[in-house]
Amino acid sequence: MKADILRAIRSSTDYISGQELCERFGVSRTAVWKVIKQLQAEGYDIEAVTNKGYKLLSYPDNISGCELMSRVNTKWAGRKVYFHKEMESTNEYAKYLAEEGMDHGSLVVAEMQTGGKGRRGRTWISPAGQNIYMTLLLRPLFSPDQASMLTLLMAVSVAEVLHHLHSDLEVKIKWPNDVLIGDRKVCGILTEMDAEPDYIHHVVIGVGINVNQTEFPEEISSTATSLRLEKGEHVDRAQIILGVMDFFEYYYEIFAEHLDVSDFVEVYDSYLVNRGREVRVLDPKGEFEGVAEGINDKGELIVNLPDGSVRTISSGEVSVRGIYGYV
Ligand code: BTN
Repeated sequence: MKADILRAIRSSTDYISGQELCERFGVSRTAVWKVIKQLQAEGYDIEAVTNKGYKLLSYPDNISGCELMSRVNTKWAGRKVYFHKEMESTNEYAKYLAEEGMDHGSLVVAEMQTGGKGRRGRTWISPAGQNIYMTLLLRPLFSPDQASMLTLLMAVSVAEVLHHLHSDLEVKIKWPNDVLIGDRKVCGILTEMDAEPDYIHHVVIGVGINVNQTEFPEEISSTATSLRLEKGEHVDRAQIILGVMDFFEYYYEIFAEHLDVSDFVEVYDSYLVNRGREVRVLDPKGEFEGVAEGINDKGELIVNLPDGSVRTISSGEVSVRGIYGYV
């Protein structure tokens, strides 16, 4: 009800009366007033004028469930938000919610993580109030071997949002799923799946975006960046989260029709930082070097070797480095 009232006040260009809110949501005037008081205490500047009603003058940088659900415009992605100020890991919480039967498209969001997880067992540093830590819960109807492509869909969704909201930034993707500004990482994605050989119970896609962080630990200070560092100004987090939900839902629905990434190859490759660059493929069966060409319909990276042969590599097996550094 709180998110509904906030949405109603937000979408009204003029004052909206207490009476109208009571009638629309079937609650008492006291209940409406209590919600208004709560929102004001959380930093929403809501003007209350006798005989006119309420008007939202400004709102805080807030990624609470109420804020997100009052602004979401998707059909299913992120329509239900589970927000906590502190979590161990949004991926872990999303897995717990999956076991509890929560819906496809539920979104878990935290202000900080005490045990944020990165890929390959690394930790994801997750300070409070600055960044985005979120996990989308999916219940796909396709087979487990198609699920790795979801990570690429998320990477391209994040890249698209950052590019559309901040067209002055050079947004790139390092295959398969790191999003960069220039040659520094701004976003990491961790996808985890619970499946049987031919059936997916659920997939959780965790996304960490460095938004307003200005200092990084020494070990990543030369390879990490944030939107604030790149733009030189504070950046609104909710707008990014909602934009990612919009793009992801759009791309997911197209993907679910063909079950490959053929419709996104062009857009993905347009962001691909490795494209045309020399890469070293860290394959456990033997490292090799070549020039990355782009991705194929299965999301595999196409690498041209010096002897003229071509190899395709899939994301689960190997990692890719630039010959001269991170990219
Ligand atoms: C990477 O190593 O690049 C992946 C990092 C993924 C971090 C995000 S933050 C939200 C979600 N919860 C986690 O514990 N990890 C992911």
